[in-house]
Amino acid sequence: LISTPDIDVSQLQVELTKNPKTRPPASKLIFGHTFTDHMLTIPWSESTGWGAPEIKPYQPLCLDPSATVFHYAFTLFEGTKAYKDNEGTVRLFRPDMNMARMNRSAARIALPTFDGEALTELIKKLVMIDSEWIPKEKGYSLYIRPTMIGTQNALGVGPSSDALLFVICSPVGPYYASGFKPVQLYATTEFVRAAPGGTGGYKLGSNYAPGVVPQAAAAKAGYSQNLWLLGDEHALTEVGTMNLFVAFKKPDGTIELTTPPLADVVLPGVTRDSALKLARDHAAGKIRIPGFPEKLEVSERKLVMADLVEAEKNGTLVEVFGTGTAAIVSAVDKIGYLGRDIVIPCGPAGQGMGDIAKGVLETLQGIQSGELESEWAVIA
Ligand code: COI
Repeated sequence: LISTPDIDVSQLQVELTKNPKTRPPASKLIFGHTFTDHMLTIPWSESTGWGAPEIKPYQPLCLDPSATVFHYAFTLFEGTKAYKDNEGTVRLFRPDMNMARMNRSAARIALPTFDGEALTELIKKLVMIDSEWIPKEKGYSLYIRPTMIGTQNALGVGPSSDALLFVICSPVGPYYASGFKPVQLYATTEFVRAAPGGTGGYKLGSNYAPGVVPQAAAAKAGYSQNLWLLGDEHALTEVGTMNLFVAFKKPDGTIELTTPPLADVVLPGVTRDSALKLARDHAAGKIRIPGFPEKLEVSERKLVMADLVEAEKNGTLVEVFGTGTAAIVSAVDKIGYLGRDIVIPCGPAGQGMGDIAKGVLETLQGIQSGELESEWAVIA
């Protein structure tokens, strides 16, 4: 969909709140439960294109009950974060990746596409207006949630003639209630998240609601998240809200770091892409990531549960971890599968995380805090 005119930053209208909220201390934050004082909205209609962006006090939306978002799941979202360093500088991390993915998601459900650079500029303005809300503690940040919904008031199934793009922000710490400790996965054999040709590679709201029942089953069985499998071979795809990495030791001592290929069943995560790039650059000798193995091989390949079972038996399963904007990097210490647990080492005793996961986490945090120079960090 081509939308004319596109988002115009110069038309931005700002209305600041007269009643700023009380900000809770970082230690009291529960992921995604607290919202900042302001939000950004940009309306769109087929006939007039993108309207004037507004930053205004955080408030409810007023929508007609017939709006397409409520009936046919015309909704998509992004997750990205802003980080504040000790000098007060605010950085975003690879926002261009989120903008590109958001446009792909929009196109997939016939919602309007937009100029990602213009939206990034508006997000920077919103984040700076609410910059007091960005926690500075390590592992804490301001989670930014750009969202687009269909707002046409009509029950026929077809492209929505109206849409609303909005952005809200939430100060966050760890995604999991257990903090930054290793998580346990439950391999779901009863449900499938995505199939080839489906929408698993897009960040659509409709991919997430059906994950809640399997997630609740995993929680009931004592696991933090469910691991999504595909097909009779039980190919690994991704975890509840993370992409998945597995490291194996090969006979010659080389460590293979691998993740399932996107193949339109896996969400193209920004942290996934970043971890792959860091690992590939390390393997090619372009950079050195502290703690990474000397001999590293990086691949995106099909992995089946039998590979993990076999590697556990042979002692060649080195580490498993998940990556995601919300979850950052989470070590996995066991996977429940067909009634038993595959137990995974999490680095040296006490470290609680394997060396590769730790290297990725610390490198990303170094970039996000400005300690490490990188073009991935974008000053707000
Ligand atoms: C993210 O990592 O940003 C996500 O979108 C996961 C989420 C559903 C909390």
